[in-house]
Amino acid sequence: MKQFLLFLACVGISQVYGVQVCNQKAPGTFEASPLNCNEFFMCRPGRPVLFSCPKNMYFDVASSSCGHQALCAGHDASLGNGEGIGPEYTPIETNPSRLVASSTACHGAPVGAVRLDTTGCRAFYQCTKAGPLRLECPVGTLFDSNRMFCEAADVASCAFEQNTGPSMGSGAGNLLNLLCVGKKVGTKYGHPTNCTQYFLCNGRNVAQLFTCPRGTAYHKERKVCDFANNVNC
Ligand SMILES: *[C@@H]1O[C@H](CO)[C@@H](O)[C@H](O)[C@H]1NC(C)=O
Repeated sequence: MKQFLLFLACVGISQVYGVQVCNQKAPGTFEASPLNCNEFFMCRPGRPVLFSCPKNMYFDVASSSCGHQALCAGHDASLGNGEGIGPEYTPIETNPSRLVASSTACHGAPVGAVRLDTTGCRAFYQCTKAGPLRLECPVGTLFDSNRMFCEAADVASCAFEQNTGPSMGSGAGNLLNLLCVGKKVGTKYGHPTNCTQYFLCNGRNVAQLFTCPRGTAYHKERKVCDFANNVNC
């Protein structure tokens, strides 16, 4: 009986956690996380994407952006952390976000606006009171420049050249390509010799090399770029 109740509780969490939050919301809509004031979801077809605000910033529902002073309503820590729920319900996690003061992406844009990263489609900007916040789409997705949400990489339309193309030609590139032979698109590996790098297989036996944002390193178990002090190098 206890186990049955536990099961029910878990089902409840799974619905609240992401899927329920995004129910009937337009793709690209940001919704506050009911579990953590620091986090928010991007709703999209399929699993929602879970983003986190930088340290000491919180998702502000009113401006739909991260802020230092934010009203965090409806936060319910009793929902737990959503562990142990089915993969079809779990949000897709992302690399840490970061403020990029030097970016001009948000010039003239209101707080809460979403702007493209003109250097490629791996990321986009959320315009916050504290400046342009760079958010990276999760592995296997790209920011669709027309539809304005993180879309599966093979169907996303990208208005910009990718600055992280396949590293072919070099010896290291060939070695990485070998590791990708026969692997599904989006298969992700840490770089064999460089902690700050990882690569994705493109489904056609080619590896695409990526470098984690400054201050982060690739966490091989979690398969994300994590703060460097969380990673054993
Ligand atoms: C790892 O890769 C980064 C990005 O290319 C480079 O700057 C760094 O020097 C490399 N580190 C090592 C130990 O090779």
